[in-house]
Amino acid sequence: MIKTIAVVGAGTMGSGIAQVAAQSGHKTILFDFNKEILEKAAISIKTSLQYLADKQIISPEQQQQIFKNILFTSNSNDCIADLIIEAIVEKAIAKIELFNQLANFNTATTIFATNTSSLSITEIQAAIIHPQRVVGMHFFNPAPVMKLVEIIQGAQTDDTTVQAIYSLCKSINKTPVICKDAPGFIVNRIARQYYLEAMQLVEEGIATIENVDAVMEATGFKMGPFKLMDLIGLDINLAVSKSMYDAFDHLQRFAPAALQIDKVNKGELGRKTGKGFYNY
Ligand code: NAI
Repeated sequence: MIKTIAVVGAGTMGSGIAQVAAQSGHKTILFDFNKEILEKAAISIKTSLQYLADKQIISPEQQQQIFKNILFTSNSNDCIADLIIEAIVEKAIAKIELFNQLANFNTATTIFATNTSSLSITEIQAAIIHPQRVVGMHFFNPAPVMKLVEIIQGAQTDDTTVQAIYSLCKSINKTPVICKDAPGFIVNRIARQYYLEAMQLVEEGIATIENVDAVMEATGFKMGPFKLMDLIGLDINLAVSKSMYDAFDHLQRFAPAALQIDKVNKGELGRKTGKGFYNY
């Protein structure tokens, strides 16, 4: 039974996941080594809860209680939980180091979930002390709003772990989908073309960013590809493209776009930096 959830990385995804955990009544620990990011996360969760209270979706008492459920910390030793969900930088080595460090002082049943968008769960778990308790738990942005969670079973993830995460997702009102470990899982594999083809259209001078977004939104997509990349973060989105390009042996259809590489080099990462394909 998962009671306590520690979320590591308080950026875009981690802060949203911590809110989801706290909102569903779990004792939640939100850890980031960057204190400024932690403060930002606290403000963003507060604002989000205020919005829910204003809309009378939660009561003022619940609003307070949910916030109280979260321990904001920059000390990794506080990360003792039944479930650890990491949402740190998209680098396998960093995730492996973190899991092994936390495994030293967590219990023999603690589950280690990674929110990676594109890294191989099988490769990550191969370097972890307890591979059978490592699983992919892929939330979507913004985590408190998006229902889907992809649960990724690596080659060594045991069924008990997958089932525990599946039950948890159900209990927190998410829509879990279990899939096997493969580059991009389900959503990112399909969505890659949504981003890459859109950027190619603009690079070739066929359409403007605004036009591509307007057209896709008019066909029923909630957000055009450029607005969506700005929301995700261009660095994160590019990292996924690169990792899938490598995983598919440099298959041309997964080649990262020069337009995006250029933006990332300039530090124009989307909403989080105030400028990406659009200005904020
Ligand atoms: P972000 O850059 O907003 O946040 C990452 C945070 O992790 C930063 O605050 C950083 O200080 C912290 N951090 C890095 N290394 C750490 C460590 N060793 N210990 C503690 N804190 C550490 O990144 P974002 O966008 O939240 O992405 C995080 C993960 O979630 C990535 O693996 C990404 O692929 C995945 N993801 C991102 C989505 C998105 O839309 N941005 C969607 C789904 C998954």
